[in-house]
Amino acid sequence: MPRSSVFDCGIIPLNKIHNRAGNITILEGRNNVPFDIRRVYYLYDIPGGESRGGHAHKELTQMIVAASGAFNVLLNDGKNQKIVTLNRPDYGLLVTPWIWRELLNFSSGAICLVLASHKYDENDYMRDLNDFIGLTHD
Ligand code: TYD
Repeated sequence: MPRSSVFDCGIIPLNKIHNRAGNITILEGRNNVPFDIRRVYYLYDIPGGESRGGHAHKELTQMIVAASGAFNVLLNDGKNQKIVTLNRPDYGLLVTPWIWRELLNFSSGAICLVLASHKYDENDYMRDLNDFIGLTHD
């Protein structure tokens, strides 16, 4: 998988169908989610102010949605870094492979919905920041 940069990652505005009884947003693989969705998971009951993540993936592409509440996502490709705030359920953040990500400053009650291009594989993780940065400078 070619390495990508933080400039390949970004916000994808999602649809929202609104009516008197609330909103619905629809996510479809290879449509508004630009990959086949093989796994969905969500983070919840995260203590306010807590952080998660702190790893990169070799092959995995993900879309991250703040289904409820808000948090920041720090993205780092080994050379460039950017921070994205997610605070709307109708925006998705595309995170390409070879991007170190940290999920920071969860609001209490936040739900982080993640759509993933592959099933869980611990061998796909890079969990040491110094090793990751070294690899991106090869
Ligand atoms: P991890 O990806 O390290 O969580 P985060 O980046 O949000 O802090 O995963 C936390 C734990 O859950 C770890 O023991 C691996 C396990 N896990 C699975 O078994 N399957 C999965 O699909 C995911 C995402 C995690």
